[in-house]
Amino acid sequence: MEDIELYRYFLKDSVRKTIDFRVTDQNRGVPVPPSEAHVDKQLPRISLPDRKIWGPVITETNLVDAIGNRRSRRNYSDAYLSVEELAFLLWATQGQRNPGIQPAHFRTVPSAGARHSFETYLFINRVEKVPPGLYRYLPLSNELVLLYLIDKQSKTRLSRATLGQGFIASGAVVFIWATVPYRMEWRYLQAAHRVILLDAGHVCQNPYLACEAIHAGSCAIAAYDQEAMDELIQVDGKEQFTIYLAPVGKY
Ligand SMILES: Cc1cc2nc3c(=O)[nH]c(=O)nc-3n(C[C@H](O)[C@H](O)[C@H](O)COP(=O)(O)O)c2cc1C
Repeated sequence: MEDIELYRYFLKDSVRKTIDFRVTDQNRGVPVPPSEAHVDKQLPRISLPDRKIWGPVITETNLVDAIGNRRSRRNYSDAYLSVEELAFLLWATQGQRNPGIQPAHFRTVPSAGARHSFETYLFINRVEKVPPGLYRYLPLSNELVLLYLIDKQSKTRLSRATLGQGFIASGAVVFIWATVPYRMEWRYLQAAHRVILLDAGHVCQNPYLACEAIHAGSCAIAAYDQEAMDELIQVDGKEQFTIYLAPVGKY
């Protein structure tokens, strides 16, 4: 098959038709993989406000206006996001839909088979009460875990890893989504990868819309150096790797 045809084939439903779903790990009784990647218990955590707390802080925005005004914004001011605004953005991208009422695999974004293969890393420059650092979001407990503190050099590393697109590292916070493909492969085998990409689009659309409610802007980013990004967020590039980014900042 010509290269271009091979890649088009990947976009189609053809892969699914070749799969014997009786032999998926799910159907062979392999235990369901955890919905959150392992986290070192020694690392410091920050508890985030829940919807009862951030809800009254976020100004109501007409959905039609949010959709109509959405655009990719690449110029950010030096203003800080509040921790409530960050919690709102995290809820919009990966938050549990009805924590304690519905199972944790029901989120504010859809996902094929409710598998949610993503981990959210945050390069935090300017969020009130949160020291600048590289964090991971834990959606099940609504916490941030600090992986390491960042400095000027980390910003340079992020800029290089995003192919010199300098505006990205100037965001108040940069969302970096990684995928754990096995979470999806457990159910769909080779048909997992196409739906992982479809899922990623849903995740990245929500900060665009949520930003409209907090006078902030975002921009989807798919141009980056894979190995450099994976190194920055400390993932192995095999079982977990970067899939998409979005800086967010006030304008
Ligand atoms: C999958 C995807 C990848 C993108 N990657 C980048 C990127 O690396 N850098 C960038 O500046 N914009 C990127 N964009 C933003 C597009 O350039 C932008 O959506 C397009 O120009 C249309 O503008 P609008 O979003 O304001 O409607 C990306 C958008 C998508 C959906």
